[in-house]
Amino acid sequence: MKSADQLEPTVFVIFGGAGDLTWRKLIPALFDLAQDRSLPAQFAIIAVDRIKLGDDALRRRLHEGINRFSRFGKAKAAAWNRFAPHIRYQQGDFQKPSTYAALGAQCASQERQWGTKAHRIFYMATPPSLFGEIPKYLGRAGLARDRKWARIVIEKPIGYDLETALALNATLAASFEESQIFRIDHYLGKETVQNILAFRFANPLFEPVWNRRYIDYVTITVAEAEGVGHRGGYYDHAGALRDMVQNHMMQLLCLVAMEPMVSFDADEIRNKKVDVLHAVRPILPNAVPPCAVRGQYGPGEDTGGGKVRGYREEENVAPNSPTETFVALRLFLDNWRWQDVPFYLRTGKRLRRQASEVSIQFRAVPHQSFPPEASLAWQPSRLVLSIQPEEGIVLGFQAKYPGPKVRLRPVDMRFSYRGSFDAPSPDAYETLLWDVMKGDATLFMRADQVEAAWRLLMPLVDAWGDIPPVDFPNYPAGGWGPECVQELLAPGHRWPLPTELTGSIAKPRISR
Ligand code: BG6
Repeated sequence: MKSADQLEPTVFVIFGGAGDLTWRKLIPALFDLAQDRSLPAQFAIIAVDRIKLGDDALRRRLHEGINRFSRFGKAKAAAWNRFAPHIRYQQGDFQKPSTYAALGAQCASQERQWGTKAHRIFYMATPPSLFGEIPKYLGRAGLARDRKWARIVIEKPIGYDLETALALNATLAASFEESQIFRIDHYLGKETVQNILAFRFANPLFEPVWNRRYIDYVTITVAEAEGVGHRGGYYDHAGALRDMVQNHMMQLLCLVAMEPMVSFDADEIRNKKVDVLHAVRPILPNAVPPCAVRGQYGPGEDTGGGKVRGYREEENVAPNSPTETFVALRLFLDNWRWQDVPFYLRTGKRLRRQASEVSIQFRAVPHQSFPPEASLAWQPSRLVLSIQPEEGIVLGFQAKYPGPKVRLRPVDMRFSYRGSFDAPSPDAYETLLWDVMKGDATLFMRADQVEAAWRLLMPLVDAWGDIPPVDFPNYPAGGWGPECVQELLAPGHRWPLPTELTGSIAKPRISR
């Protein structure tokens, strides 16, 4: 439980307060923090949006969102009655100075009422087209001026490409200092993603073998079973490279590959992460095909075996859309630790099942001392960090099969979050919102990291933008992506089939 004692009085302003993100994620997360007694006693939410809405109508809508999305299930009447008065609605146009003047007055009046200064957190839960506008108005209204008390929160996408990301970062920097800016990548709020650091650096066991000497290759998989659903309008202009690779996949890569941090200081950790991105061997514009593959799902089956439509038949998607719903990459890091170790990354929608995991494939032993017949089923050790839907860690290694003969068999050692801790994992947004209120930027993306990730991917963005795909759709819904992903792999390497914590990683389970 995060303690409320560590938080100071806070006014939480949500631009886009009548929108979907507020309803689905932000308010349920704040409510859940309140349930855990993790909000400061002096706490107010001001939801700002364009539509005409009263406090009561907004609260009714948010109540319904809490009932659907809260980690605690349907809100108890007493809990809701305690929480609801903290929420207020302010109607206003995001591009009119009067909105910000009224907001400033509301914040000031709240502080007078509390008799103390409060943090003012400005959360942009609006369409991305407003990300470059709101900070300017906040700056002009003097609402960004107080370096300690004013913070701004922005969600991905941070830019559409390197140029727009640079421009957006410059706009933010014109009104806010970097220490006031919190760029959310919700993957960093996931417990299992944070656990990668604990696993690597709180245990002396793994770090000595976490390098090119012992590791043959690494695969990072973020597979989604769902299609684009109702988000076709957004997704058709983004695609998997922008939607998942530039942010979530790059974060996972950084955590797996970074050097040990000297302290748990936000900038120290972020420096080590950005070093990883700087070490990635550039993808040369004329070498895209051997190191990157794109795909788009066609009609097929969902996890339950039901028929589902292809991407081009989805709502608000162009019938001849060239947008990729699947990306696989082969990357190398040019540094002492990782030279020549391939990192294979893949992500896609409408894959066989949901699974996010990192698989570390260790090298074969340097010399096989067991008789050949003892080790027919022999496999090098493999470690899997499973992020979702099951959260845990599995280590596959060799053991002697019982009996008089020496026979080796792969077996697993497994840790499951659910089995080991009785505390439920908070939603990623709870963690992130609490950290914003506390002013801890460790789990947020710094400007240089966002820009480094874009810089790395721009050759792909450009190459794929210039040359429309000729083979889309190239994988059926319910598969593991296009056939050509195999071409990324070095001889002997494989895309592992995602682990089931209740199953076995020891048995060879290969996706094709
Ligand atoms: C979002 C993407 O950032 O992450 C979505 O825009 C994707 O397309 C989602 O589905 C995945 O997040 P999670 O937490 O469900 O793995």
